[in-house]
Parts: sequence; structure tokens; C-alpha cells
Amino acid sequence: DHLPVFLRELPKCEHHLHIEGTLSPELLFKLATKNSITLPSDDPAFASPATLKARYENFTSLDDFLHYYFIGFKVLINASDFEALTYDYIQNAASQSVKHAEIFFDPQAHTERGISYDTLISGLKAAKTRAAAAFPDMSIEFIPCLVRHLPVPSAHTMLEEILSAGHFHDGTVIGFGMSSTEKNMHPSLFTSVYKAAQEAGIKNLTAHYGEEGPASYMEAAIEQLSVVRVDHGRRVIEDPSLVARLAESKLMLTLCPVSNVKLRGVSQIEDLPIRELLDKGVRFSINSDDPAYFGADILGNYQAVQLAFDLTIPEWESIALGSIEGSWCTEARKQELR
Ligand code: ADE
Ligand code: ZN
Repeated sequence: DHLPVFLRELPKCEHHLHIEGTLSPELLFKLATKNSITLPSDDPAFASPATLKARYENFTSLDDFLHYYFIGFKVLINASDFEALTYDYIQNAASQSVKHAEIFFDPQAHTERGISYDTLISGLKAAKTRAAAAFPDMSIEFIPCLVRHLPVPSAHTMLEEILSAGHFHDGTVIGFGMSSTEKNMHPSLFTSVYKAAQEAGIKNLTAHYGEEGPASYMEAAIEQLSVVRVDHGRRVIEDPSLVARLAESKLMLTLCPVSNVKLRGVSQIEDLPIRELLDKGVRFSINSDDPAYFGADILGNYQAVQLAFDLTIPEWESIALGSIEGSWCTEARKQELR
């Protein structure tokens, strides 16, 4: 059974959603016009929203996607642009029974093009304030990610700025992550940044690994960066001893099934290790990553998994419960969500 009503109504937590990845081709073109941003004229994909959308059907790798993703950033200028993006995401998530969302953003990729951290975060916060009134049973949190393609000192500057704003301690952001290109980006390159975060008292540490890179990168991130969560992590399955270790520690993977197919990590959802992870007791959540680029929101990802694996209702309930337990919210909030 495809369980359409059950899956829509199942209370969900989303932990792996890049707010910049919710920028649709239509909105990208609209904002380019509003903000007088010239789109690349040497790439026919930028002829129209339709050609851009068609190009998104043919990503060949993570880096091919990231090329378009970071061009999309350039049309985001004002706090109100970030607010609109965030509010639209929340509204759609609420309609799919998302009760708790932890939203990633990439501060360095904005500040390096002249958009201040203050502009970004005030847009995100404004959306959260509006959402609190409209969707009172939903909790929303934010997580800045360092981007691996920029130099390490730039990540330190970003961390310092958020720390000096007091935003890790006043709850404006709830953790710290790492995204962007993975090949040749071994965790050991970023130990100084994660050490600084830990010394500042940040415990909610995560990083994208095991998306394109090997299981050994995931293990190194756990050991050298002290991450308590791994984003993607699908390649853990190549290392049985790491699988056993995750089952034991309950460290959560934030899987993004449709993303992995679109970026050619696997050729179909069926090739993801969902069955094995369930059977071995590895905790994971199911997420949309960059829904406007991959054509599937959180419900679309749940449905794709159901189509591929035909899970039972108790299995879905255990996935839902695991994603509550792995959330970065208070024990009191978890109790409400259970
Ligand atoms: N940034 C946005 N989406 C990403 C992904 N899937 N992997 C790495 N960095 C990202
Ligand atoms: Zn991601």
C-alpha cells in the first residue's frame, strides 16, 4: 500500500533542508528582476524558468548541482527575500504535518557576496515569528553551515560573528553544520573550526558526509569533529563496523533519498540502505535537502521511500519516533512531539 493519507498525516521532523534550496526557478527569475541581478548569459539553462527547471532534471553530480545552487544565491538580496523563502517553506511543511523543522543556511556564501549575516538572520527570524502565530504547534530552528569550498579562515570568521551576536546562546541558532562539496574535503581539514565551536559550548554539531564521500569520512567526522549527527551518511553501509557503532550510539543520519538519486549517488531509491538501517537499528530521518532543485518536498521523499520499500505502519512509526528523539529540541518539546 502507498499509505497516502497516513504518510501526509504522520507527524514529521525535518532536519536537512537548506533554505536556499527552496528557491524555485520561477522565484529565482522574479527576484532577479526585482533586485536587478543579471543571470549568466553564457548558459542556455538561464533562458527561462522552464529551461532552468529542465536543466535541474539532468544534474550529474553534487558539484554540478552546487554550481546552480550558488548562482541562485545571488538573487537573494534583502531580508524580505529570505523571509519569503523561509515562510513559504514553513507553510508547505506545515501542510505536510512537519511539527519540527531545523533549517540550514550557508552564511559565508552570502557574506562573501556582500549580504550581511544580520540581513540573513533577520529575514529568517521574521519568518519564524510569523510562523509562530500561524502554525503554533510547529517548532522552527536554524543551523548555520560552514561551506567547504571556501577557505577555513572564512569559516572561523562566520563562527565568530554568530558567537559575538550571542546567537548560539540565545537560541537564534541551535547548532552548527557543514555543507558544500565533499570530494577531497576530509574532516581533518576543519578540526580547528569544530574545536572552536566546542570550546564555545556548542554541542549540537553535524556535518554533511557520506553523500559522495566514503564511510571513512563519516567516521573521521565523528572522531575528529565530534559531530553527533551526520547529514546524508548513506555510504555508512559500506562499513559494517560503523553501522554497528551507529546502531549502538543512536547517532542520527539525516537521509535525503530523492536528492541522492538526482545527484546520481544511487540510480534509484531502492538502492539506498533503508531496509538495512531499519533492521540494524540505525536511527535516521527522511528529508528533502533542496526541494526546489530535486523536485520533491518532505512528503515527496516519504512517498518515494514507501514506493520503493513498502514499509509497514509500525516501521514508519519507528522512523517518526527516531526523528523526534534525534531532534535538537528540549526534552519538554520532545515529549509534546511523541
Ligand atoms: N548544500 C545544499 N545541498 C547540499 C548537499 N546535498 N550536499 C552538500 N552541500 C549541500
Ligand atoms: Zn544538504
